[in-house]
Amino acid sequence: MDKAIIAIDGFAATGKSTLAKRLSNHLGLPYVDSGALFRGITFLAIEKGWITDTNIYEKSIEEGISQLKFNFDSLSNALTLNKRDITNQIRSKLVSSYVSQIAKLPFVRYYLLKQQRQMGSSNGLVMDGRDIGTAVFPEADFKFFFTAKPEVRAQRRWEEMKADGYLLGYNEVLKNILDRDKIDTERKVSPLIKADDAIEIDSTYLSLQQVFEICVAKINGK
Ligand code: CDP
Repeated sequence: MDKAIIAIDGFAATGKSTLAKRLSNHLGLPYVDSGALFRGITFLAIEKGWITDTNIYEKSIEEGISQLKFNFDSLSNALTLNKRDITNQIRSKLVSSYVSQIAKLPFVRYYLLKQQRQMGSSNGLVMDGRDIGTAVFPEADFKFFFTAKPEVRAQRRWEEMKADGYLLGYNEVLKNILDRDKIDTERKVSPLIKADDAIEIDSTYLSLQQVFEICVAKINGK
């Protein structure tokens, strides 16, 4: 598919990135995980001490991010920040617990908005996130919006994290997902909301293969 932009938004752990990767392969378009960029800023802010147990030092984050250069490798899905590979670090429990508080800061969103648009400007892409179809690429060729029951999402994410060697309980995962959904939907700047022209997919009772087939059928049918 030539230069198409495919926007995949939705709630935490609904299977957006897995589906987005498969679509990107199938359509021969680059893939960008926009959540990884928000996680990258959060990781850096924790490491630099701009986030502590008691405070989020917004001024330090604002000054610090102006120097950042992200690269998301579409094939390996590796994220580098100023050439340093932080692919694994951004999935940690600590990063997950702060990322939505960082992602609601207007200057963080504005900064990443520019970077995200640049990534899609030349060859088209498949990008997943929270505001891709509403704010980053409102003119996207195809928009999908993913939902699923929280308990099912938590179970899937818990299994995924266990397989990756993270030791944490199901209830912790569920709480993190619900906390992030709340902050993401209630924030002032580009909140998580379905675009009017997005196709909604509830993946609660669907396998990845079924979701993939639904999306491909919609794309082919247009
Ligand atoms: O994979 P998962 O659904 O758990 O989340 P993610 O895509 O890695 O995104 C992590 C967090 O980044 C979200 O909970 C949002 O707070 C934020 N995010 C955002 O605000 N806007 C985006 N386009 C992507 C992520």
